[in-house]
This record gives sequence, C-alpha cells and structure tokens, in this order.
Amino acid sequence: MTFDRSIKIAPSILASDFANFGAECAAVEAQGADWIHVDVMDGHFVPAITFGAQTCKALRPHIKTVMDVHLMISPVDTYLEGFAEAGADIITAHVEAGPHIHRTLQNIRSLGCKAGVALNPGTPAEAVADVLDMVDLVCVMTVNPGFGGQKFIDMTAKIAKLRAMIGDRPIHIEIDGGVDPTTAPLVAAAGADVLVAGSAVFRGGSVSNPTPYGENIRAIRAAASQS
Ligand code: DX5
Ligand code: ZN
Repeated sequence: MTFDRSIKIAPSILASDFANFGAECAAVEAQGADWIHVDVMDGHFVPAITFGAQTCKALRPHIKTVMDVHLMISPVDTYLEGFAEAGADIITAHVEAGPHIHRTLQNIRSLGCKAGVALNPGTPAEAVADVLDMVDLVCVMTVNPGFGGQKFIDMTAKIAKLRAMIGDRPIHIEIDGGVDPTTAPLVAAAGADVLVAGSAVFRGGSVSNPTPYGENIRAIRAAASQS
C-alpha cells in the first residue's frame, strides 16, 4: 500500500449479499472500488453480530485491492492475530473498546498490519492525540456503529480538527456511516480521503447486475471531488 490523499471509495460488505461475499467483493472492485471495508461485530461492543476472522480469511482471495477490517469488538487484543493471519491489510480498533488502545495499536503493527483507530460520534478528536504517531488511519464514525443504513451524523468539525492535528503525517482520515453523494462533499471538504459506503454503493445492484455499483461509486467519488 502506498500513501496518497486522493479520494478512495471503500464499499462496506455489510450492505452486500451475505450468501455471496466473494463475488460481491469482486463485483464492486470491477466497478471501481478502491478498498473493501469489512465490518466485524461481536454482539457486545455493538448490538449486532456479523462474522469473524475465518470469514475474513475466506474472503481474502476474492479481494485484490485493500482489505480494510473494522473491528467493532471488545475485548480486541486476543483476536488481532487471527485477523492478521486472515490477511487484513488494515486493522482498525475503537478507542472506546478498552482501556489500552496504545497496546492494541502496538500489537496491530507488530503483526505487520497497518493500524487504524476509530472514534464513535460521542468521542472527541483529542482522544487519539497521543496515539497519532502509531496509526495509519483514523476512522471517524458518522453513525453510532452497529448497523448499516443509518442517518449521517455531521462530524465535519471533528474531521477538520483531526486533519489539522495530523498535518503532514501519512495518516488517512476515513469516514464511516451514512456516506452518499449528498454527504460525501461535506466530509471530503473537511479533510477526509477514505469514504466507506454500504447502502449507497450496493443499492440497486447485484452480482448478476453490477452496473449500478459502478454508477453509485462514481456518483460518490464525483460528489466528493467537487468539494
Ligand atoms: C456501521 C458500519 C459501517 C456501515 C456503513 O457500524 O461500521 O461500515 O456498514 O453503512 P452505511 O454506508 O449504509 O451507513
Ligand atoms: Zn465500518
């Protein structure tokens, strides 16, 4: 992975056909996705349960771009090795998931993965100030994590603050939740470069009719690029 700040669209497979993940990943990549965002939920840190490291491992051969694993689990440290072995390029943990985010980020990097830290809407930018040198990505949640298809919560002030805190450091700002062609320009203007989108990418299409995926991705990218 080389670092660049151009807009990247990361479809979340949470909004895809759960019986067909491999083909869904290949379909959105063929339609222009830059990364694939993989939402891991444990029914404890967030209400829903999705899947774990074994599913990520099975998905890996179907992902040619970047496998961006978003861990919405607590505790997190005991599971990191499994996700690294599954082939994650980026592993993101929540700052709210435990008392030792510093140790968690050290562990992620020591496993050879890029490290991300995620912030819930109620958590201020300052919560990651002392770990910025340990991360490759800060994920700003623009919904409360746990479900796809929720309404966007405006976090543009937090994004702009993080962008200033990051300065020239090679750290991505990723936005997760409610991203569509209406909200993408707001977050891109504030300094985000990775836009996760579930419903707004997968709506209207399917593996056998993937053209809408491409139209949806291009619409989000075009809207973000106008900012
Ligand atoms: C929410 C997940 C998101 C979700 C985004 O807990 O982390 O990645 O899939 O879905 P949309 O784009 O539908 O808000
Ligand atoms: Zn996510």
